[in-house]
Amino acid sequence: MFTFYLIILYILFGVASSLDNGLAITPPMGWISWLKFGCNTDCEAYPDNCISDKLFRKMADIMSSEGYLDAGYQYLIIDDCWMAEYRDNKDQLQPDPKRFPNGMKDLADYIHSKGLKFGIYEAIGNYTCSGYPGITLENLEKDAKTFAEWDIDYIKVDGCYANKKNYKKTYTDFGKFLNNTGKPIVYSCSYPYYLEKAEQRVDYSYITNICNLWRNWNDIEDSYSSMINIINWYSMHQERILSYSGFGSWNDPDMLIIGNDDLSVKQSQTQMAFWAMLSAPLIMSADLRTIHPEFKEILLNEDAIAINQDMLGYSGFLMKSILGVDIWVKPLAVIVNDFPTFAVLFYNKNFIGNVFTVSLLDVGAYIIHSYTAYDVFEKSNNQLVLPNENFTFSFTSEMMLYKFIPNGD
Ligand code: GLA
Repeated sequence: MFTFYLIILYILFGVASSLDNGLAITPPMGWISWLKFGCNTDCEAYPDNCISDKLFRKMADIMSSEGYLDAGYQYLIIDDCWMAEYRDNKDQLQPDPKRFPNGMKDLADYIHSKGLKFGIYEAIGNYTCSGYPGITLENLEKDAKTFAEWDIDYIKVDGCYANKKNYKKTYTDFGKFLNNTGKPIVYSCSYPYYLEKAEQRVDYSYITNICNLWRNWNDIEDSYSSMINIINWYSMHQERILSYSGFGSWNDPDMLIIGNDDLSVKQSQTQMAFWAMLSAPLIMSADLRTIHPEFKEILLNEDAIAINQDMLGYSGFLMKSILGVDIWVKPLAVIVNDFPTFAVLFYNKNFIGNVFTVSLLDVGAYIIHSYTAYDVFEKSNNQLVLPNENFTFSFTSEMMLYKFIPNGD
């Protein structure tokens, strides 16, 4: 039964090819400055919270020493506002000299010395989205070389001020120039988002060949409703979009907002679960110096991370809704007792009551087999589901994430 659903999904909607740079084989994991630190460039008033060399060295220290790197979070990414207001007299990009007094290569060396990889932000066009010097067409090649010289491992390329008609060619050209440098650089492209916003056709099949990941929809904000709106957008467009996730190429629903002000613990689990199901890049953006342990625990949940990083590389999909409960299923590579493991997310949109029952068929399982349903966040809540029997559980929050592990005979 399960295989049947898979075949339907991946034959009907196509199987993704991917950018052949050997990078981002599983969804990239890391940390980025934007949601928490935005474009705070005032280091006099906010010496500990401005976009500066000091901030990134501190985050590098924490990522490498406090379990994040061990859990898989590898990329430390500077978002917008690292640049000086102007290019230098040779028309080269340069970091703000006060905030990055040692230059970018020195910061890269430090980040690498911690076992991490270094990511940066730029935008095609005259300006970045926050108004700093962008990558104009005549500078594409030169800037790609600069990033390679700085030993950058990942670049997020935005496009607020780029000409929509030229997106395809410009992003393709820049990707080629990055490749020509010989330095492996993960390429994150924002342009599908701008086309989706303008209701223009997006050629995802093409994008998988030029980008490792791409933003599809709205900027996430520190709010539950913003996060849920993004999820709803993916479920509405899943047939058009989700099958393009695969080795080396990923849909990007934007950052993890976990550990900031708005989400409760349960809501944070919901984000982690959906991002795991969607095979989304797991890019945190909280202040790791002060994050509360219960949020850190969610970010480091090894079962959720394993679902996200699963080697099949499929995105989960919304299989059906029953009585106001959305059932998302993601096939996993792990075979146990000759049967595939899979993850199931139950999202309670408006189910009344809390005890919910589904058949094995409803979650796409082989009904002739027996499974253990493993609760990814509660961990202790293992349940045996016998062949042809129903699976019943209580909603202890709006979302429940289970791994269905086949049992031996
Ligand atoms: C856009 C992007 C954000 C962030 C800002 C920086 O809005 O969507 O993620 O990079 O630009 O200016």
